[in-house]
Amino acid sequence: MSDLPPAWWRDAVIYQIYPRSFADANGDGIGDLPGIRSRLPYLRDLGVDAVWLSPFYLSPQADAGYDVADYRTVDPIFGTVEDARGLVDDAHDVGVRVIVDLVPNHSSDQHVWFQQALAEGPGSPLRERYHFRDGRGDLPPNDWPSIFGGPAWTQVPDGQWYLHLFAPEQPDFNWDHPAVADEFRTILRFWLDLGVDGFRIDVAHGLVKEAGLPDIGADTSWHLLDVGESPCFDRPGVHEIYRGWRRILDEYPGERIAVAEAWAPTLARVADYVRPDELHQAFNFSYMSTAWQVEAQREVIDASLAAMHAVGAPTTWTLSNHDVVRHTNRLMQENQGEVAGRRPTEVDAEAGLRRARAASLLLLALPGSAYLYQGEELGLPEVVDLPASVRQDPAFHRAAGQDGYRDGCRVPIPWSGTAAPYGFGPGSSWLPQPSSWASLSVAAQDGVPGSTLTMYRDALALRRKVLAAGDALTWQDAPGGVLAFERGASFRCLVNMGDGPVTLDAPGELLIASGPVAIENGIATIPPDTASWWSL
Ligand code: NOJ
Repeated sequence: MSDLPPAWWRDAVIYQIYPRSFADANGDGIGDLPGIRSRLPYLRDLGVDAVWLSPFYLSPQADAGYDVADYRTVDPIFGTVEDARGLVDDAHDVGVRVIVDLVPNHSSDQHVWFQQALAEGPGSPLRERYHFRDGRGDLPPNDWPSIFGGPAWTQVPDGQWYLHLFAPEQPDFNWDHPAVADEFRTILRFWLDLGVDGFRIDVAHGLVKEAGLPDIGADTSWHLLDVGESPCFDRPGVHEIYRGWRRILDEYPGERIAVAEAWAPTLARVADYVRPDELHQAFNFSYMSTAWQVEAQREVIDASLAAMHAVGAPTTWTLSNHDVVRHTNRLMQENQGEVAGRRPTEVDAEAGLRRARAASLLLLALPGSAYLYQGEELGLPEVVDLPASVRQDPAFHRAAGQDGYRDGCRVPIPWSGTAAPYGFGPGSSWLPQPSSWASLSVAAQDGVPGSTLTMYRDALALRRKVLAAGDALTWQDAPGGVLAFERGASFRCLVNMGDGPVTLDAPGELLIASGPVAIENGIATIPPDTASWWSL
């Protein structure tokens, strides 16, 4: 990889902000852009290179903003376009880049185009910007299921049906229509002109559907994370769209990037999205779905690096986001390799945190770019006991197994104080925070040796040393249960994934560890579920 040009995003640490749950400036219980702006010093001190903001556009919030009614307007619950501009400018002033979410697969049913399509009726050209069809008798036009449960089609009063791979409030655009492509090129430019550094592309693999919208056939039960071959995902035509977008991104100075949320069936197919003339990065969901086990980890790390290197793209690594059970819980649960479709369960909090910290330190040592999800630097656990009455995930209310439990990772961040809302804002918080979160707040962990926040800050600062060691990763022999690799000739990472402590020759100077590593007479003892970085 050393012959590749240096580029900020190739090894960037990118921190996901879920705006409604980060910081609330106006006291309505929902986080907003001014709240984020006020917390920029925190992000600078944490040491991240960029933030990715989940959607803040005008939206009825049927899917927490992933149902966009106007792509060039900020929803009043989050602020204004001027707030967005101010946030981007201020972030740049403190050396943090800003990536925004783009939702091109579907709009909100309140989007003016969809409202026009409904009003104009069957046969109108304005219906062609979405997928409207006649049904088969009383049945929908085909057998496609919605990711959120139920059929992917909803019938309108005039008898036609429209396609929505997600909730009925999220009609899918017809990307064969030139107006759709034009519109999104304009939207890209709108935000690039405002100064954003890139885009996270929602459902990047979904835009193009197979011509004729054929039935899937026998097994129509799926979820987003495991669709395999399908007529609605990862169709070859999608790549031409991204080639066009890349040309636009490249027109702008400062290396603007795009990262694909593409749940393609294999890593090689994911790599197609990051070929040199397409997008820059793609989320590595294979890694996120891997169990905490040496052989499985080695295998997925090798496979990820190989697949991305084959197209000259950096590998990305991530453990948590707003759609999956936080890794403090997930890595302890049964079926820990499954990132969704499982009801999160209570786990031993101490053991969960120990393992999560080790996993995070491992992730930050890997060559490529790391995506962090807000709150993981505080060691926040999944909130598993939210009452149904406060849950807002649309899939929960549609009784879909896949994503119905996404509220538990979206609970607002505790910043300070001893009682909810823990400095999240002056009012309440849109989801209740557990009474046990006082000790997890930023203020409670700030500057405290051994705290999870301190570990993340130290690791991000030390990461520069790791990067300097080079990208070449070589596996090292190690006792059973221990994952060991070097980067270049000057850095080693040792992770004890086993059940008991291991002793081994200390390979050099200990830089950081996720738990208490003891060194005596050149022998290191690494407790279970502990990662350590060594300078050789
Ligand atoms: C993926 C997003 O991450 C998720 O939150 C959303 O529900 C779906 N795409 C639909 O936009």
